[in-house]
Formats: sequence, C-alpha cells, structure tokens
Amino acid sequence: MRICVYPGSFDPITNGHLDIINRTVRICDKLIIAVLSNVNKDCTFSIDERVKQIRHVLKDRPEIEIDSFSGLLTEYMKKKGANIIIRGLRAVSDFEYELQMALLNKNMNPDIETLFMMTNIKYSFLSSSAIKEIARHGGDVSDLVPDYISKQLSKKFKNSVGV
Ligand code: COA
Repeated sequence: MRICVYPGSFDPITNGHLDIINRTVRICDKLIIAVLSNVNKDCTFSIDERVKQIRHVLKDRPEIEIDSFSGLLTEYMKKKGANIIIRGLRAVSDFEYELQMALLNKNMNPDIETLFMMTNIKYSFLSSSAIKEIARHGGDVSDLVPDYISKQLSKKFKNSVGV
C-alpha cells in the first residue's frame, strides 16, 4: 500500500496545494492531508479552522483523509502506517529547505521516502502568506484559492482593509 501524507500548514489551502493533491491521488493508494498544528509559525487561522476549511473544500472527495498533527512528522507517519511524504516544489528556492527536511526525515526513519511534485507553473508564484497579504488589503484572490477560502479570508480581514 502506498500511503502518502501531504503535510503542511495550509494557512490557508490554495489552488497550488489543490493541484498537488489532485495529482497525488492518481499515484497513491491513500492520501492523508496532515495539517501541522504549528508552534513555530504564527498562523492566521487556528488549527480547527484550517482542518475545517480543507474538509469543506474537499467535501466531495471522501477518499482523502484530512487530519492534524503535532510533533515529528515521522512519528505521525508511523502511527498512520504511512511511508511516503508528498511535498510540492515551486522553484529552486524551495529546494534547499526541502532537501534538508527530506534528509532529516530519512535519517529519523529510513523507510520513509519523500516524493516531490513540481508545482503547476500556473501556481509556482503562490504562497499562503502572499494570498493573505493581498486579501488583507482588499485585493482579489478568487483565482488563487477556492471560493470558500476567498470568503473565509474576506471574513477574517473585514476590519483590516487599508491597515
Ligand atoms: N502551492 C502554493 N503554496 C505552496 C505550495 C504549493 N504547491 N507548496 C508550498 N506552498 C507554500 C505554503 O503556502 C507555505 O506558504 P507560507 O510560508 O506563506 O505559509 C510555504 O509554501 C511552505 O509551507 P508548508 O508547505 O505548509 O510547509 P511548512 O514549512 O509550513 O511545514 C512541514 C512543513 C509541516 C512538512 C514541516 O514543518 C514538518 O514536518 N513539521 C513537523 C516537525 C518535523 O517533523 N520536522 C522535520 C524535521 S526538520
């Protein structure tokens, strides 16, 4: 069984992430989206909000499991019986950080492979922070995130436009 875990902060999920998800389901037996309950990152949406958002966006895809985790990814994967980490590579600048993470994870558990997906060129410039920055100032992000997320962003930033 190829059980893949796509980990990330997803603060919030973007069309770039969804592109990776849609391509990953074609090559794995089971996909788990694992939302990191971050301690190091100052997230805009709470862990419950991020999980709820992804569940809503993927409500027609019951085959995809959406979960949250804290602590080490390798430990989480062991618990889930998963053996493949999925990561998206947007540009060369992602490579060094991703290589370090993949090697550290491999060092902790040699049975785990990290599989990199090249991000669709259409979304290679996206990041959750950039989207939040646009939304915070009242910009249009409707072609960068699902409709539901666009509405969630407007709701979150409704009082901060122009700040
Ligand atoms: N499309 C759009 N944006 C993308 C993207 C894609 N395909 N792929 C990555 N990104 C963006 C994200 O939106 C995010 O943007 P932001 O920084 O503006 O929020 C950024 O790239 C990277 O975020 P993400 O993919 O969520 O990674 P992360 O660095 O926040 O977290 C984990 C990575 C969860 C895999 C890692 O921190 C982890 O495993 N943590 C657990 C502790 C552990 O085991 N560490 C391993 C040993 S070091």
